[in-house]
Amino acid sequence: MAKQTKTKGYCSFCGCPETKEEPLIYGFSGAICDTCAKAALQLLHENHVKAAPPAPKLKLLKPAEIKARLDEYVIGQDEAKRVISVAVYNHYKRILYAEKNENDVEIEKSNIIMVGETGTGKTLIARTIAKMLDVPFCIVDATVFTQAGYVGEDVESILSRLLQAADYDVARAERGIVFIDEIDKVARKGADNPSITRDVSGEGVQQALLKLLEGSIVNVPPQGGRKHPEQQFIQVNTQNILFIGSGAFNNLDHIIAERMNTNVIGYNAKNRNIDKDNLLQYVSLQDIKSFGLIPELCGRFPVITSLDKLDAAALKQILIQPKNALVKQFVKLFDLDGIQLTFDDEAIDYIVEKAVELNLGARGLRSIVEKIMTNAMYEFPSSNKKSMSITLKYAKEQFEHSIFKFLN
Ligand SMILES: Nc1ncnc2c1ncn2[C@@H]1O[C@H](COP(=O)(O)OP(=O)(O)OP(=O)(O)O)[C@@H](O)[C@H]1O
Ligand SMILES: [Mg+2]
Repeated sequence: MAKQTKTKGYCSFCGCPETKEEPLIYGFSGAICDTCAKAALQLLHENHVKAAPPAPKLKLLKPAEIKARLDEYVIGQDEAKRVISVAVYNHYKRILYAEKNENDVEIEKSNIIMVGETGTGKTLIARTIAKMLDVPFCIVDATVFTQAGYVGEDVESILSRLLQAADYDVARAERGIVFIDEIDKVARKGADNPSITRDVSGEGVQQALLKLLEGSIVNVPPQGGRKHPEQQFIQVNTQNILFIGSGAFNNLDHIIAERMNTNVIGYNAKNRNIDKDNLLQYVSLQDIKSFGLIPELCGRFPVITSLDKLDAAALKQILIQPKNALVKQFVKLFDLDGIQLTFDDEAIDYIVEKAVELNLGARGLRSIVEKIMTNAMYEFPSSNKKSMSITLKYAKEQFEHSIFKFLN
């Protein structure tokens, strides 16, 4: 323990003599002057800062663990869930690896693009992932962006959201994940019609997105929205940010069909086992390009995966099985009023059958169930009934009545 004495001596580090103005601090076998003590403190401080981990340790979830969590909420879509789980896991690994090895092999990120018809679970997968991650994550809707200089949001505001999700800790934001939903909506309008040159919300936005995806330093307005000259920008390096794009890409199956027909010329086309009802599973970046995404942007999404169209069996499962399945939600709603609600099997099958007809994936389920339940939800809380059973007859009556009202 250092202590100060009145003994006159010399600093053991710089050799300066002790003076009245600058007394020495004495240890067991030496002394230090004020100036050297300050320099030592500074050195310690610098080393400490360098050695400190840049952020708290990440909990590494294995792909199978990520997928198991997705399975609790998302029915089917095994392929997409596996691809996303691996991508998220690799993203974590890259970050941890980059923290340990500065000049070794650089692992590049693999942005993903996810295609699937409406109501098949694209946004649901994103939301479920968001709940389980401990890296900043944000979901942005590509439809709100316009080319810089036009009314709408600049794409840089994507990074503002990520910063927000990271509590404005830039280092954390720089290793986050961004989910760009509805990316198909910024496709070039009239991809086959080069005469359309002013395409404010299409190609211009894609060019701007490209800048983010390229891994560059981007000036981000902290509050999002429009850039104002008087605003202080925050610089964000996008090199390690993982981007997942997603969209329904309506009619992409036609593009795929066309490509596959042309490509099989020269092969024995008849021997190819093509599943014509689910062409999306054969999607390639070339198809996305034909759809109207610029080649440079396609090139920034090396991984592409598709979601399956949901069949009756999957829709039935979605209706009753997940943690927050629709049927469970309605049972809970009634339970809060002290009413025991049950659905007969035939009624469930009827709802599924109608959802298949609607062709809106699982999106149709909610609107059908709402139609069937509206009257009951209105009447039951003021009645003294304690139970309610949704039979096939009741479901049919209510649904047909609501459709009838709608048509008239
Ligand atoms: N595979 C699935 N498993 C469980 N629920 C699903 C699944 N797919 C869709 N749903 C349910 O259907 C609704 C719509 O799903 P979601 O928003 O994920 O569709 P989407 O694929 O993003 O469609 P869109 O292209 O129209 O945005 C949600 O309420 C969701 O819970
Ligand atoms: Mg969606």
